[in-house]
Amino acid sequence: MADNASPIADKSDTPKREFDVVVIGGGPGGYVAAIRAAQLGFTVACIDAWVRNGKSSLGGTCVNVGCIPSKALLQSSENFHLAGHELGKHGIGFKDLAINVATMLKRKEGIVDQLTTGVAYLFKKNKITLLHGRGSFVRKGDGDGWTIAVDQHDGSRVEVSATQVIVATGSVPRQLPGATIDNRLVCDNEGALAFESVPKRLGVIGAGVIGLELGSVWKRLGSDVTVLEALPVFLGATDEAIAKEARKIFTRDTGLDIQTGVKISKVSTTKKSVTVDYASADGKEASATFDKLVVSIGRVPTTAGLNADAVGLKIDQRGFVEVDDECRTNLPGVWAVGDVVRGPMLAHKAEEEGAAVAERIAGGHPHIDFNCIPWVIYTAPEIAWVGKTEAQCKADGIDVRTGAFPFAANGRAKALGDQRGLVKFIADAKTDRILGVHMIGPMVSELIAEAVVAMEFGASSEDIARICHAHPSLSEVVHEAAMAVDKRSLHI
Ligand code: FAD
Ligand code: NAI
Repeated sequence: MADNASPIADKSDTPKREFDVVVIGGGPGGYVAAIRAAQLGFTVACIDAWVRNGKSSLGGTCVNVGCIPSKALLQSSENFHLAGHELGKHGIGFKDLAINVATMLKRKEGIVDQLTTGVAYLFKKNKITLLHGRGSFVRKGDGDGWTIAVDQHDGSRVEVSATQVIVATGSVPRQLPGATIDNRLVCDNEGALAFESVPKRLGVIGAGVIGLELGSVWKRLGSDVTVLEALPVFLGATDEAIAKEARKIFTRDTGLDIQTGVKISKVSTTKKSVTVDYASADGKEASATFDKLVVSIGRVPTTAGLNADAVGLKIDQRGFVEVDDECRTNLPGVWAVGDVVRGPMLAHKAEEEGAAVAERIAGGHPHIDFNCIPWVIYTAPEIAWVGKTEAQCKADGIDVRTGAFPFAANGRAKALGDQRGLVKFIADAKTDRILGVHMIGPMVSELIAEAVVAMEFGASSEDIARICHAHPSLSEVVHEAAMAVDKRSLHI
């Protein structure tokens, strides 16, 4: 068989083990797929390469250096900001307020520890075999199965075979040519989550999700933060009304220096600093020197090392494993989920796909509505949205009615002390079906769930307008924004 021409030798003394399902990657896509498959009665192995403090650390990017540690630091920095700038208004005062970065990092690491050991516990509970190492395709096995080699962290090698293989190898940071990541001066997300002290001057390349979240963290802790973005527009994927409000707040309140439309020409380092040469939007040559630089210009799928060629697994032009809407690859019994396939690089999208694939393997027919996957940017205030923006509706030729309501007119937001932002509904002009909901404001990461449920159930803006919302609560802003579509908001 041609597939046997794999560069990986089929050593006859390599121990072999058989499973129903083998998952490659233990991030949110992979570990959820493994757990769901085990719940459905399959024998499951999960191969995961992540190493933290010399040991296996399940949870992938999300738990180790992504969603979880970033939110831990966001909370610490937000608390520091509140203590320094907001709590005085409540009559709460501090003497000698200071941030102990070592303690903050220790807390973050403690949270990561708890969650990664939590996933390991769930593996044990569900009798999932964890193989700590790098998995690569070897060949199509006898019968229907696939053989995967695992180069284990302890230096040994095993082979596992299964009729069903789920590739969930995630993504890694996109590199900026000429800016070598050393995680000392020039950092990716991993380095930016672990600065040992607050850099005086912090540069961020890319005003995307990571740039804004981590830029805000260090700004709140005292850094001067400059964000250099290549695109002329700010937050191009969000609704224009929200992006406009966000830029105003992040510049005026957070104090980020956001420069759009820049073209980076050179990144150079000395022992203690890093200089970025760039052309600004008006074409003028500029240069800025920082104590640390974060490069956050997107992420790319991880397929290197999978030995995809050996079995003919199709990778598309952008490096993603090619899949259909149901995460099937071109190979029978081989599936792929999460960041390594098309669609948003979000942990909850990866989880949904992982669970859905396990159910499909068991003969189920789960469905994921990709239009109902929420996005959240955990800045202060937060940004959240689901569905289409007004510009996308226009581009698709859909007539819409919109309604917006500000947090400034909400009692709970006033009591909370954060009245910034708004909620905006976009509904089909003919049917009133909700097409998109966009928010910037306090706790909108939680408020967006109502909009997701509504859209999943095909609700109209009037449905939300006619639902009783608790008073006083932030959810009343969602209620009023839905009423605003029909121009009947009450409290403004
Ligand atoms: P990953 O989490 O990347 O996991 C892939 C795993 O596969 C890794 O453990 C990797 O070591 C392993 N692997 C790779 N190749 C092999 C191989 N050949 N053999 C064995 N193992 C292999 N998303 C959100 O939804 N909300 C957030 O708040 C959020 N915050 C983020 C903050 C940051 C700083 C970053 C970087 C990302 C954030 N994300 C967030 C994105 C989220 O982390 C990813 O979308 C999510 O982790 C993708 O899950 P995954 O399972 O596809 O891949
Ligand atoms: P991103 O795609 O969100 O933003 C990257 C930004 O960098 C874009 O605005 C892009 O125009 C800009 N850029 C690209 N090349 C550039 C260059 N040469 N010079 C200057 N700017 C340049 O990517 P980011 O922030 O790296 O995050 C990666 C992904 O991780 C996100 O897209 C998201 O999927 C996930 N993530 C999700 C989070 C969440 O859900 N809250 C938090 C953090 C990350």
